[in-house]
Amino acid sequence: MRAVAVREFGAAPELMELPAPEAGPGEILVRLRVAGVNPFDWKAADGAMRGSVEHRFPMIMGSDGAGVVEKVGPGVTKFQVGQAVYGQFMKVQRGLGSYADYAVASEDGPVATFPEGLPYTWAAALPTASSTAYNLVETTKIEPGTVVLINGATGGVGQSAVQLAANKGAHVIATAEPGEIADYLTELGAMETVDFTRNRVVEDVLESHPGGIDVVIDLVTATRGDTPLVAVLRRGGIYISTLGAADPEALAAIDIQGANLMNRTTPELLALLAELADGGRLKVRVEHEVRLDDAPKTLAQLRSGKSHGKTVIVL
Ligand SMILES: NC(=O)c1ccc[n+]([C@@H]2O[C@H](COP(=O)([O-])OP(=O)(O)OC[C@H]3O[C@@H](n4cnc5c(N)ncnc54)[C@H](OP(=O)(O)O)[C@@H]3O)[C@@H](O)[C@H]2O)c1
Repeated sequence: MRAVAVREFGAAPELMELPAPEAGPGEILVRLRVAGVNPFDWKAADGAMRGSVEHRFPMIMGSDGAGVVEKVGPGVTKFQVGQAVYGQFMKVQRGLGSYADYAVASEDGPVATFPEGLPYTWAAALPTASSTAYNLVETTKIEPGTVVLINGATGGVGQSAVQLAANKGAHVIATAEPGEIADYLTELGAMETVDFTRNRVVEDVLESHPGGIDVVIDLVTATRGDTPLVAVLRRGGIYISTLGAADPEALAAIDIQGANLMNRTTPELLALLAELADGGRLKVRVEHEVRLDDAPKTLAQLRSGKSHGKTVIVL
């Protein structure tokens, strides 16, 4: 089968011909139609999980994908051949991922069927980004009236977080450059947008909310403890990071609740996200659709920050 894989940690991704995996006991083999691209894909290929789990090379990149069940392994009861499924397929211990014609998933793992009306491109774009957004909104206990700043709102996680927080009745402030993308976030439910390129996010938020706001969801800051956005929070406010930026003890000392989210996706959550997307309550904007042959070039561009918005690989 065709796959985009790396030969070692940090190597450039290459298009390769590799043996298709087999569905073991309790597993399904999925003929993928579309793979979703997330920043963690190249972080994992660079060795983000090195030392904590075995890796096998060549290692196929990617986690998210959507496709059709091709075979079921012994003992599988939850899925049948021919069903449309989507979810997370990264298995670094076996060198398997979603940037390939075939992937395997445990029937109890983060995989679920999705409604016929939902395009494969949308399904492939959802698993990591939207489940992370969902868990961020739940963990921060966002409710009607909560004022939340989403830093990195223009990205995959951010766009879903804007919608899920707005669906709960929150007052959402989203970071975005002025123009089409800021207008789009407003359409998705943001009540205010703040231009992060002016480097005045704290000042701009405090100007409209002088008493401070309730929650900061930070999808951008990557240095532990270096969290200037905390300055927009009221006493007792919540700061949550997807990049390990929160230092909970230091934040507690200034009466801020700090947390770092490690996302976990479940089949139940995937089923819910597919239902929300199918019903139009969670919109997915796919900015770039690329072919597998072009994926190595596209990944290089994404890594250097030269391509914006959600990318999917059509297989
Ligand atoms: N802990 C976990 O379990 C977990 C789960 C999911 C994601 N993550 C991490 O969370 C981060 C966000 O994920 P994602 O999928 O949403 O990534 P993404 O699609 O690349 O989005 C990041 C967004 O942030 C914007 N941005 C860049 N610099 C900014 C700044 N200074 N201020 C405000 N916005 C800025 C980018 O805009 P431009 O495109 O215009 O540069 C981009 O739209 C990634 O680093 C990812 O690895 C962690």
